[in-house]
Amino acid sequence: MSTDTSQIELYKQKVGDLGASLVTPGMRVGLGSGSTAACVVRALGRRWQEEGLRFIGVPTSVDTAHLAESFGIELTTLGKCPELDLDIDGADEVTRQGYNLIKGLGGALLREKIVRYAAKKFVVVVDERKMVDQLGDHTPVPVEVTPFGWEATAKHLEKIGANIDVRLKKDSKEFFLTDGSNMILDCNFGLITDPVKLENEINQIVGVMENGLFIHCTNEVLIAGNDGLHHLK
Ligand code: 5RP
Repeated sequence: MSTDTSQIELYKQKVGDLGASLVTPGMRVGLGSGSTAACVVRALGRRWQEEGLRFIGVPTSVDTAHLAESFGIELTTLGKCPELDLDIDGADEVTRQGYNLIKGLGGALLREKIVRYAAKKFVVVVDERKMVDQLGDHTPVPVEVTPFGWEATAKHLEKIGANIDVRLKKDSKEFFLTDGSNMILDCNFGLITDPVKLENEINQIVGVMENGLFIHCTNEVLIAGNDGLHHLK
């Protein structure tokens, strides 16, 4: 099916509204990163201002924190609030079966994964271009690594099959750095047949902080499609 981009953008706003409708007063909520998660934050901002909805948010990135603060949304940290009721975040690939994910093209994967595992429930918001039969379809696995000795870490990743692009800042030759001052190695493994094994293998490598595979941890998916919204549970 061909994809009408302007229509998808419109539905992304609607997915944002649907995601925001899952938040009830007093909830502790993880706020994801990326353009689709931003639609949720904006919709929550409108509910905050227009309906007087009150909840507390834990942002997964500095950008998300700034966006939420621009609406006056109250934010906290996992230090003060280590358990969350709900986390809503975007993704780069989602499997149609099992809702396994690749995340991190926006570079926030470490914080996103920490926030996800602090939450009782995880809802993913995407547009239909992200839906795949198998992970690795069109997205590398972003791997966040500590800058010290990253070349050695990259060699270990190559030994388990990664074809690596070191992520750079847009239109620059400088390394991209995450909010936590780490680097990202975009690791292409081709189609991923055993994501659980790969997630474990990557995380056993010294120098790796975290990888963008989110396996068996998604409860619901909200999809903005050409033909409307889909809510998968
Ligand atoms: C950031 C992420 C984002 O959730 C992911 O990249 C999706 O972003 P978008 O909604 O803009 O496509 O994982 O680290």
